[in-house]
Amino acid sequence: MDKIKVIIAFGTRPEAIKMLPIVKKMDESEAFHPITVVTAQHREMLDQVLDYFKVKPDYDLNIMRKQQTLTQITSRILEEMEEVLISERPDVILVHGDTTTTAAVSLAAFYQQITIGHVEAGLRTWNKYSPFPEEMNRQLTDVLSDLYFVPTRSGKKNLLLENHKENKIFITGNTVIDALQYTLKENYHHPILDEVNPKHKKMILLTMHRRENQGQPMLEVFEAVRNIAIEYKDEVEIIFPVHLNPLVQRAAMEKFAQVTNVHLITPLEVADFHNIASKSYLILTDSGGIQEEAPSLGVPVLVLRNETERPEGVTAGTLKLVGTKKEVIEKAMKKLLDNEEAYKAMSQASNPYGDGKSSERIMKILIQQFAEGKLRATDNLFRTTE
Ligand code: UD1
Ligand code: UDP
Repeated sequence: MDKIKVIIAFGTRPEAIKMLPIVKKMDESEAFHPITVVTAQHREMLDQVLDYFKVKPDYDLNIMRKQQTLTQITSRILEEMEEVLISERPDVILVHGDTTTTAAVSLAAFYQQITIGHVEAGLRTWNKYSPFPEEMNRQLTDVLSDLYFVPTRSGKKNLLLENHKENKIFITGNTVIDALQYTLKENYHHPILDEVNPKHKKMILLTMHRRENQGQPMLEVFEAVRNIAIEYKDEVEIIFPVHLNPLVQRAAMEKFAQVTNVHLITPLEVADFHNIASKSYLILTDSGGIQEEAPSLGVPVLVLRNETERPEGVTAGTLKLVGTKKEVIEKAMKKLLDNEEAYKAMSQASNPYGDGKSSERIMKILIQQFAEGKLRATDNLFRTTE
């Protein structure tokens, strides 16, 4: 049997964390010829993940610029991807989630009439600007895709509401659980743990980066965290691996520079982040991926957003939406610090995202589709040049 030629394309840290388990498994398989293409919409934060998984991309489009705009990311990817797709002509391309890499790569693949498989398809808030631009990125990607690998039943339900064909939608679990199997360690240690001493103090992990939160909402959240850090000085240590976006860096420095129990650190390598998260008392975040990881780790999360496309963690009790208003966040943090019952109710480990075999499931489906002749890229492009 011919090998299935598949491009796995991604560009940012979270896409890499969730796509590299697929790349690793395909590398071990006789059925696939995987080609890894990174747009490098992120540079350092992407490289951290590639290094951890020991994967060297076949193509690196290296598009990141400091303070890049959405239009710049999109146009650079469209131009660069065209060349890769024309020279490789894969049977199928896999994209992930909802970044601008995801949407732009999908559009480039559509122009070349290449079958598109969307991993982590079907997530929705149906609010155009929240999260921005991710909600429209994933909707656009789902419009362009041919195969939908949805993490849970709710993704399938969403896609059916949009009239996507049921026989193209596959519930696979989320590959983030596959990633945790590569990273979580029994006897984990990191120097920061000596500094914060989580056995005697409550370690709180903070991350925040979303575009719609930059500016006033982010400053308000940081103000709330700062107040708690000061009020609970002897009980609480806060670790904040600051996203490399200069706007986030500036806001973090402005609010936390003088607070000794808030530790501003560079982004953690993925295994460090997962292990430190698992030892944390509480997480505050507006991240998508962390909302999926925390229920597995049994660590309560205050989600710094007003709505989420990941309702499973809220249902499981691990996630609570608190938005970005200072008073609300302070109150929610105090409740979890002071009220043992309230804390216990949120810290039960319950994983709604599968059994860590999502990558294998996706590969099986691709093999089946290939055998049925449904993947081959067409050579009959509707050309307007030549
Ligand atoms: C992007 C995604 C977002 C995802 C997030 C994960 C889009 C529009 N946004 O947002 O969906 O949740 O990644 O973190 O696709 N930077 C560096 N080095 C890096 C990474 C970023 O210096 O390794 C700086 C650069 O100045 C860059 C800026 O951060 O211009 C913003 O990066 P960008 O990818 O545009 O947006 P994110 O906020 O990271
Ligand atoms: N993460 C990491 N190092 C950090 C912070 C987060 O490796 O310092 C991981 C985290 O475990 C999760 C992913 O990055 O898997 C989430 O990425 P991010 O919050 O940047 O993006 P989102 O998921 O919101 O798109």
